[in-house]
Amino acid sequence: MTYLETAAQFYSEVAQTPQVGLCCVQSTPLQLPGLKVPLAMQEMNYGCGTTVHPTELGKQPTVLYVGVGGGLEALQFAYFSRRAGAVIAVDPVAAMREAATSNLATAVAENPWFDKSFVEIREGDAFNLPVADASVDIVAQNCLFNIFEPEDLTRALKEAYRVLKPGGRLQMSDPIATRPIPAHLQQDERLRAMCLSGALTYEEYTQRIIAAGFGQIEIRARRPYRLLDTQTYNLETPLLLESLDSVSFKVAIPEDGACIFTGKTAIYAGSEPFFDDAAGHILQRGIPATVCDKTAAKLASVKPTEIIITDSTWHYSGGGCC
Ligand SMILES: C[S@@+](CC[C@H](N)C(=O)[O-])C[C@H]1O[C@@H](n2cnc3c(N)ncnc32)[C@H](O)[C@@H]1O
Repeated sequence: MTYLETAAQFYSEVAQTPQVGLCCVQSTPLQLPGLKVPLAMQEMNYGCGTTVHPTELGKQPTVLYVGVGGGLEALQFAYFSRRAGAVIAVDPVAAMREAATSNLATAVAENPWFDKSFVEIREGDAFNLPVADASVDIVAQNCLFNIFEPEDLTRALKEAYRVLKPGGRLQMSDPIATRPIPAHLQQDERLRAMCLSGALTYEEYTQRIIAAGFGQIEIRARRPYRLLDTQTYNLETPLLLESLDSVSFKVAIPEDGACIFTGKTAIYAGSEPFFDDAAGHILQRGIPATVCDKTAAKLASVKPTEIIITDSTWHYSGGGCC
């Protein structure tokens, strides 16, 4: 059996017998006015953060949701798009597709605004998405890509890139590891399927997104997720996992490298009214300007005493619309 088959078997089990709190860090999902989340769907909240960013969903985007789980985020995306076929949710596990179909039928009964046609569930997997090239505004996945081995993660990222329209967005939430996960845990297929041992470090995770072609990444949230303790996981020191919510844009990678926004700002503190780096960044004295990490490093090296770079807040929601 391959590790992907082990994962499919695991998700077939937890589709039929929900495990409350399997992956999620928040017990209550995002609350939206007029949205009633069925209890069974809530119990199958197997995501580690959120991929649904309400202020960015105003234009009824077409969303391809990979790994439907109990259907919670498909329903939340449908809440914003509210049109037939706007959300296509894909899953290779038959029991999971059945559970999501049943939960969404309950949601129709509990939400007057929600129509069955708003979410279409299709058989398929992350490596072979059943939609045409450049056909969707958003690809979203929550707590799935982290279970893939690195080369498979790259395949899944490239497949997401293929189906996105130019300028489209890959919205992800995944665990990341604060140091590389030791091989004995990485090789444990059940732990990997449970989103506990496949996580990459922040650097490797973001580099793989860029290597798949995405020119801009924005970090929406980064928070503690799970602690792998020494006794249970046979480690010398505990290993903290974090969850990372990100939005990656299908835009060209600039010549000097991709832009990653983590919430840093640059503040000019010199004697002139403003500082112009002649590369498109004008800083007014005393006013924080949001910059990507690449620009932050460049500005700090040009004027180390006159430009202050603030720390990453790990929350940035500055760009992109569809
Ligand atoms: C951790 S659950 C997350 C479910 C959902 N995103 C949520 O937030 O509740 C992973 C989901 O991915 C599905 N899955 C497993 N292998 C997959 C694959 N190769 N391609 C797409 N989905 C897969 C599982 O059946 C399950 O529905």
